[in-house]
Amino acid sequence: MLSVSNLSVQFGKRILFDEVNTQFTQGNCYGIIGANGAGKSTFLKIIAGKKDPTSGQVHLEKGKRMSVLEQNHNAYDEYPVLETVVRGNKELFAIKSQIDALYADYTDENAEKIGELQVQFEEMNGWSADSDAAALLSNLGISENHHYSLMSDLDGKQKVRVLLAQALFGNPDVLVMDEPTNDLDYETISWLEHFLANYDNCVIVVSHDRHFLDAVCTHISDIDFGKINHFSGNYTFWYESSQLAARQRAQQNKKAEDKKKELEEFIRRFSANVAKSKQATSRKKMIDKLNVSEIKPSSRRYPAIIFEREREAGDQILNVEGLATSSEGETLFSNVDINLNKGDKVVVFSRNSRATTAFYEIINGNAKAEAGNYQWGVTTIQSYLPLDNEDFFRSQMSLVDWLRQWAQTEEEREEVFLRGFLGKMLFSGEEALKQSSVLSGGEKVRCMLSRMMMLRANVIMLDEPTNHLDLESITAFNNSLKNFKGTVLLTTHDHEFAQTVGNRIIELTPNGVIDRYMTFDEYMNDKKIKELREKMYAVEV
Ligand SMILES: Nc1ncnc2c1ncn2[C@@H]1O[C@H](COP(=O)(O)OP(=O)(O)O)[C@@H](O)[C@H]1O
Ligand SMILES: [Mg+2]
Repeated sequence: MLSVSNLSVQFGKRILFDEVNTQFTQGNCYGIIGANGAGKSTFLKIIAGKKDPTSGQVHLEKGKRMSVLEQNHNAYDEYPVLETVVRGNKELFAIKSQIDALYADYTDENAEKIGELQVQFEEMNGWSADSDAAALLSNLGISENHHYSLMSDLDGKQKVRVLLAQALFGNPDVLVMDEPTNDLDYETISWLEHFLANYDNCVIVVSHDRHFLDAVCTHISDIDFGKINHFSGNYTFWYESSQLAARQRAQQNKKAEDKKKELEEFIRRFSANVAKSKQATSRKKMIDKLNVSEIKPSSRRYPAIIFEREREAGDQILNVEGLATSSEGETLFSNVDINLNKGDKVVVFSRNSRATTAFYEIINGNAKAEAGNYQWGVTTIQSYLPLDNEDFFRSQMSLVDWLRQWAQTEEEREEVFLRGFLGKMLFSGEEALKQSSVLSGGEKVRCMLSRMMMLRANVIMLDEPTNHLDLESITAFNNSLKNFKGTVLLTTHDHEFAQTVGNRIIELTPNGVIDRYMTFDEYMNDKKIKELREKMYAVEV
């Protein structure tokens, strides 16, 4: 379908791709992964023809159409919504425009041309273009009264969904998307997962969203050391099998055939689990192809994120009564009553992300509520990862000095200790002496996590912890929180994180809370709760 030959990309001295040869095949969905700056976005731009490689070729099979999800949300502002979607199929749209222009200037000569064009148009299912586009839009929650509005009249969330419809319009043979779930809400992501899981053509997608990768991918394409390697299976399979292979490599006494048996057993168990899950039918193809010879030990380094507690908390954790706040006249939440129990791992959720952030800021003493109060148990020690961490990085300090601010003991103040700690968080050697003010977004979050680990809290609060993090850090972070024995309050758009950590869901609405002991998926799929949610957001009191 799409082949890449001898592709090399170099920026100055930096070699991103070195003689890459690879194929993307019909019917497969490739999840592209790789460290920050590995070249994922660059690779997608090159296959989409938006950027030239230093050398080498990209070849799309003749007669096949590629479609790329638009990244610039304002790129179609001057066009009507429905037309924006149809423009996703450039060839079709060009023919349609030609026909319209010829009609406007109707002559006998033009009539003949129109006839020819209409044959082509018909072959491309042009007559159903508008209704197909309208159906896609409606599926994505853009109601009919918006279909003829200008894109510029839509809000950001709506624009993203129209652009998604544009990319999917007309079933492109190759669909290319760079981090599509970043700007989407939970419902739209679920819809997209379902759509792509049943999509028969070729999909190439960069994502940090593990739930999404697991739901849609038949292959993981790993960018590392300037090459791209495809592995059959989804993200979880790639992660767990490569970890297992890495452990095996360390077991020198174990016989090769025993290792092989162990991997086969792993594949068998994994396949059985996939078969049990909802995606079974559409992704059956994938699990048929898993085999031991493709499994390679991971060369990835995962930060050592381990949350230990200074002490266990007593029974009183947090009590919140009648808490309310608003922003610019809009009620963010009100009547919030919460009593946290030991061992609760709460997903704090709201349709309005400002509500959850305001909630954390209030219970951490950084902002005042308009009504109500809260009280922490005397045995609790809290640590908080705020959404915005800029305040922590204003001063000029080396990372070692930065982290020393939270040392609890003399030993922890020592350079050796701090460097070891930073090393485990993948700031090795010289990097530990970097200035804290020049860090990238992901590096700042890793620093903040180091800080939290040093605080040894028994209550951990996290507002969108996966922002800016790469897949390795997200995976390590998620694993550590699954094992954490204390209390967690967590708000995240990372579905896998929410699903695997949370045992209680608390939704903050303008009219009080919905509070349930269940998993995130159970909560989101419960019909009664869905109805209740509609009501709770609908009426302002
Ligand atoms: N036009 C350019 N000139 C120089 N460097 C670039 C250019 N475009 C990207 N880069 C660099 O190439 C690397 C890969 O970028 P990118 O493809 O965006 O990575 P990823 O999407 O994997 O995070 C980064 O270090 C980036 O700074
Ligand atoms: Mg990128």
